[in-house]
Amino acid sequence: MRVLHLTDPHLFADADGELRGVVTAESLARVLDHYRDADWTADLVIATGDLVQDDSEGAYRRFAAQLGALELPVHVVPGNHDVPALMEETLPRPPFQITSIAAQDDWILAGVDTRVEGLASGAIADAEFERLEAALAAAEPQHALVFMHHAPVDVGSRWLDSVGMEAADAVLERLAGNSKTRAVLFGHVHQAYDKRHGDLQVIGTPSTCRQFKPMSDEFAVDDRPPAYRRIELKPDGRFDTTLVWI
Ligand SMILES: [Fe+2]
Repeated sequence: MRVLHLTDPHLFADADGELRGVVTAESLARVLDHYRDADWTADLVIATGDLVQDDSEGAYRRFAAQLGALELPVHVVPGNHDVPALMEETLPRPPFQITSIAAQDDWILAGVDTRVEGLASGAIADAEFERLEAALAAAEPQHALVFMHHAPVDVGSRWLDSVGMEAADAVLERLAGNSKTRAVLFGHVHQAYDKRHGDLQVIGTPSTCRQFKPMSDEFAVDDRPPAYRRIELKPDGRFDTTLVWI
């Protein structure tokens, strides 16, 4: 099974809306064009939040139009910049699924909500962990790809880690404690991350728009281009990923 991971498009209702000098709709279009033009096709898309920047219905409609054109299932989770009520209104049905947990072939694709109202940082509430663990236990496949907006690890950038996951060590331990979870996929940090933590691979994908400078103590943008990630999930629980810079 092939998964196209893209994250943090930060769209605006206005087609010319810019995030720190990048026109985000155009930048997402470049990512999608690159995907379409390449010799690699996905079975589904995972988009890990910060779909919009301006809290507008128009920006979500833009996301729905741009992603809908791929004619693939699109699994989304909310980020700190998202407005859940607008997501539900504008992405209410297939191809879009919000924070869903679904079995497909030999894998479980599990979206987790890490958004905390009013905060840039994230957390996984007990009830959300219980929903995840019950769904993983009930599903037949033995391998799970869990995806969320916030990173369950510090990335080594002081300002970003200060708006990261609350109690990240405990979150990572609880995620790793589930015997089906093979990998956790996230966005939020607008930079690449791919590290093994015990039995768990923790994978962050850069944004489809503006990136942040890795390992920076203070807020700093990076001049790296937009990116997306290709993931190939194998029936035995192994997987390969390729990060694609545009
Ligand atoms: Fe973001």
